[in-house]
Amino acid sequence: SSSALWGGRFEGGPSDALAALSKSTHFDWRLAPYDIAGSKAHATVLYQAGLLTADELAGMVAGLDRLATDVASGSFVPAEGDEDVHTALERGLIDRVGSELGGKLRAGRSRNDQVATLFRMYLRESARTVSGLVLDVVDALVAQADAQFGVAMPGRTHLQHAQPVLLSHHLLAHAWALLRDVDRLRDWDRRTDESPYGAGALAGSSLGLDPLFVAARLGFSTSVENSIDGTASRDFVAEAAFVFAMIGIDVSRLAEEIILWATKEFSFVTLDDAWSTGSSIMPQKKNPDIAELARGKAGRLVGNLAGLLATLKALPLAYNRDLQEDKEPVFDSVDTLSVLLPAFTGLVATLRFHPSRLEELAPQGFSLATDVAEWLVREGVPFRSAHETAGACVRVCESRGLELWELTDDDLAAISPSLTPGVRSVLSVAGSLASRSARGGTAPERVAEQLEAVRAAVAAG
Ligand code: ARG
Repeated sequence: SSSALWGGRFEGGPSDALAALSKSTHFDWRLAPYDIAGSKAHATVLYQAGLLTADELAGMVAGLDRLATDVASGSFVPAEGDEDVHTALERGLIDRVGSELGGKLRAGRSRNDQVATLFRMYLRESARTVSGLVLDVVDALVAQADAQFGVAMPGRTHLQHAQPVLLSHHLLAHAWALLRDVDRLRDWDRRTDESPYGAGALAGSSLGLDPLFVAARLGFSTSVENSIDGTASRDFVAEAAFVFAMIGIDVSRLAEEIILWATKEFSFVTLDDAWSTGSSIMPQKKNPDIAELARGKAGRLVGNLAGLLATLKALPLAYNRDLQEDKEPVFDSVDTLSVLLPAFTGLVATLRFHPSRLEELAPQGFSLATDVAEWLVREGVPFRSAHETAGACVRVCESRGLELWELTDDDLAAISPSLTPGVRSVLSVAGSLASRSARGGTAPERVAEQLEAVRAAVAAG
């Protein structure tokens, strides 16, 4: 016999093609433990409302516990005829406690409020897992920033040499972005902390069941204010998918840099053997596959978000079956990050930086020109002409194949009388770094404070 939850008004069973289209057990089965927890809470409010005797409640809970054990061990799985996780679990319960008792559980609830609640429970737990994995990446960045403290590198804009910065400063820039993603998930959790259970199909329950009791049992601070909103809204899914995509994007930006840094041309880092791959034909190859997959997976995470938003667009209230399409994209985002982030953490943790290469390049490409201009400003020269003068230094150096610090005192004086030998104090990487000492700058003392601030944020996270 069919395990369908809705056979009464139909002459016969669904066509095979409809059943095949409708089926969701191949992806919603991961919600089974949450559904069973929801059922136990629901059984309790049925008892509180006088709709189950104490014996029936005890029998129901024992049956649900056995079912949970069998689901966890894999001995109970969805059958061919089960439409979704809820259908399969009702069949499982009836197998264990009989249809007389098992058939009482569904009073006062609908798969619409059920699935909206379970999905929130699953995502809240997944978001905590993902946050932990993101913090592992941050930890790896902090460890590198600590180990490489004091090493200068060429800071870039437009991928061109811009100004020297501390490598630690650059690495911590990535850490801050990831910490904001963790904060976004925390903030998201506060909004998602409302249980839709008790909303029924859309209008609420007539059976005197207490949504707040169920909410508390399922780890929510409260229940939804509006049963239509509770069953129809999926902005909590879209928002989670956004943060997951943002994590992918933030990781991809560092990934892209690692790919560049590992090239012969940059030679900023060597990848650890265990965290890089070879080529099947070119024996010499050592490839940054983890970073490339991070770059690629970011696209997939963005696609999951875009797909979800497209599903939600213009969907009338309340529940529509379209909403069954809400799960796979965000399940995929969770799964993707769950494999990506640990690999990425390993890649970052084992990067071997080449300090002498980084430091050698730090002042090249006239990256100290801004320091010349700002030195002139401190000497009282208006910035507009200071910029001109520093630019003239670059022009002279370029035409003669020199670096800025190779200009003689006479060269400097010929470019501008304001360029006295005192300018040499800023024509070094150390001088340039030390001068950027305002809050947020790359001066070593500021970056040391920043390192502590990131550590504190991780500890709080
Ligand atoms: N499996 C559905 C979903 O994931 C829940 C079932 C609601 N079905 C229904 N016909 N109201 O959205």
